Amino acid sequence: METERLFLRPIEAGDLESLAEIFSDPDVMHYLPAGAPISRDRVNVALARWLEHWKKHGHGFWAALHKPERQMIGYCGLVHLEDGPEVELAYGFRKPYWGQGLATEAGRACLWYGFQKLGMKRIVGITAPGNHASQRVLAKLGLQYEKEAFFYKMNCRYFSIEQGHPLKTIPED
Ligand SMILES: CC(C)(COP(=O)(O)OP(=O)(O)OC[C@H]1O[C@@H](n2cnc3c(N)ncnc32)[C@H](O)[C@@H]1OP(=O)(O)O)[C@@H](O)C(=O)NCCC(=O)NCCS
Repeated sequence: METERLFLRPIEAGDLESLAEIFSDPDVMHYLPAGAPISRDRVNVALARWLEHWKKHGHGFWAALHKPERQMIGYCGLVHLEDGPEVELAYGFRKPYWGQGLATEAGRACLWYGFQKLGMKRIVGITAPGNHASQRVLAKLGLQYEKEAFFYKMNCRYFSIEQGHPLKTIPED
């Protein structure tokens, strides 16, 4: 997929280096289930699961490549929440790229793909209670707060959006 500033392509084995860099940043990891940087070996295990998810479900995480540099600056995608029936929108970006609307741009493309291409009826989003930036991304995309929940061994806020709900766009300045 292509957005204004990003190319999105399915994650691949060769993305290990970029992912290991992203997941070595304590600020990126702060609100993720691990809570702190993870080793390259653990990233490799996660990547194997991500590749398996694509094989099993035909969708999963995309690498987000920044158009100007063609460099992988993050990931986003639609994955089954703890292998259950709900599909979760998830994303993470390198810190220098935060605050530019890129997660929202990537997230909107993922929602479009899920609803329009895959015919999903409902997509959810979960965040740590303190992850206000991610909650703001979900709100900008039109997901609505549903409940407090417990996933990935952590308390979290649970948001959702149904097919047919108008996908919100970022207001112009
Ligand atoms: C969460 C994350 C993906 C957001 O990416 P991003 O590209 O900066 O997101 P966007 O620029 O599209 O939107 C961020 C919004 O949150 C707001 N925001 C940022 N920090 C905030 C904070 N501490 N409190 C409230 N709002 C905050 C921004 O102002 C912006 O909203 P605005 O457009 O109304 O001004 C990024 O911080 C990240 O990669 N974090 C680490 C991984 C992670 O937490 N992933 C999500 C797991 S649920």
